[in-house]
Amino acid sequence: MKISKVIGYQVLDSRGRPTVAAAITLTDGSTHTARVPSGASTGKHEAKELRDTGSKYSDKFYSGLSVQQAVANINEKIAPRLVEEQIDLNLVDSQLIDLDPSEDHSALGANATLAVSLSASLATAHSQNKSLARYFAADAPLLIPMPMVNILSGGAHANRSMDIQDILIIPTGAKTFTQALSWIVAVREMAAVMGKESGQVTNLIADEGGLSLTFSSIEKACEFVVSAIEKVGLQVGNQVSLALDVAATQFYDGEKYNLATIGKSYSPSEFVKYISQLTSNQPIISIEDPFAEDDWSSWQQFMEIAPAKLQLLGDDLLTTNLERLDKAIANKSANAILIKPNQNGLVTSTLNVLKQARANNFNTVVSARSGENEDSWLADLATGWSAGQIKVGSTHGSERNAKWNRLLEFEATEETRFINPFN
Ligand code: PGA
Ligand code: ZN
Repeated sequence: MKISKVIGYQVLDSRGRPTVAAAITLTDGSTHTARVPSGASTGKHEAKELRDTGSKYSDKFYSGLSVQQAVANINEKIAPRLVEEQIDLNLVDSQLIDLDPSEDHSALGANATLAVSLSASLATAHSQNKSLARYFAADAPLLIPMPMVNILSGGAHANRSMDIQDILIIPTGAKTFTQALSWIVAVREMAAVMGKESGQVTNLIADEGGLSLTFSSIEKACEFVVSAIEKVGLQVGNQVSLALDVAATQFYDGEKYNLATIGKSYSPSEFVKYISQLTSNQPIISIEDPFAEDDWSSWQQFMEIAPAKLQLLGDDLLTTNLERLDKAIANKSANAILIKPNQNGLVTSTLNVLKQARANNFNTVVSARSGENEDSWLADLATGWSAGQIKVGSTHGSERNAKWNRLLEFEATEETRFINPFN
């Protein structure tokens, strides 16, 4: 089957910001569309998304954030290369590399390359009569990932109501994804009720759908979530545990980690000690970005003292980038990687990063961004790649629930097995 048409256009994400969509039409008349996500607490080593600020395309009504340059690159540079070619994800990605050999995809824009690469993935799966998950999955059953779900939000996603970005829960005791999600919804609702009872405004929800509440310390915020878990009748530790996304790059000034809302500053070595105490005093089984994106030595120091079963997850540190992952493997700086396709820019090279991580015994967590859309391909990738874990934000907002609902669909309609990487 061949490609007959490739069209890029601008759409809106869940924060009301422009993002890129690409639609690939095949010779059988079918059209396959994908929209790209976008971050707020972005790492500086991520692939480069093109925004129109300062260019002739800049649109004042979108405060310069429009993506018409990336769209033009799809329509004027990428489309002429792909039309009349066979539909095949690997060929499409190699054409995209040929057109823009830069490491960070800055010539075409990673938002342009990823939109095309994703729509090519969907079109290739269709040409083989498969879902995207089945296209990547070896055999039945499909392996449904363990969710890591946002309950409290702070940092760049919630007007810095807390210094750290997220307190999440992982329902490790659930037997099925369907059961896991019901537990999560119950904890989320209980946390909202408790927030209201404490006199806080709970109808302000953050970019990823988490509750934006304030606490006098990180410990108090953890205890609040623990109490929500207990109040719905679930066992902390046995059934549901905590995870943190510290997003520490956001409050590191090059010398100190500054927790502004609680008025404390820590040197890197003090912060390593603090994180060590926090993770041993709270039922935390996964901690993401506890140190800044280039503070490699704190990551290494913490790995040396952390219990082996604690998941130390690199997001801004690793940015779904093979070189940075290789460095973390060599230096023992982390034991898990967040996999965000738009940090990388291509589907095939994102998968290569995941494979390299797995080959080196890293856990892999496929992740959405704070700026999302109605697409559900992320759930297909996490399942088809047997990633083991998925992080999408909260259970509020259809851009989040599109992914959860896709996993529910797999469990309801296919032969599946629900993974627990924390066993
Ligand atoms: P972002 O946040 O999409 O704003 O980068 C998600 C995360 O930090 O994991
Ligand atoms: Zn993160």
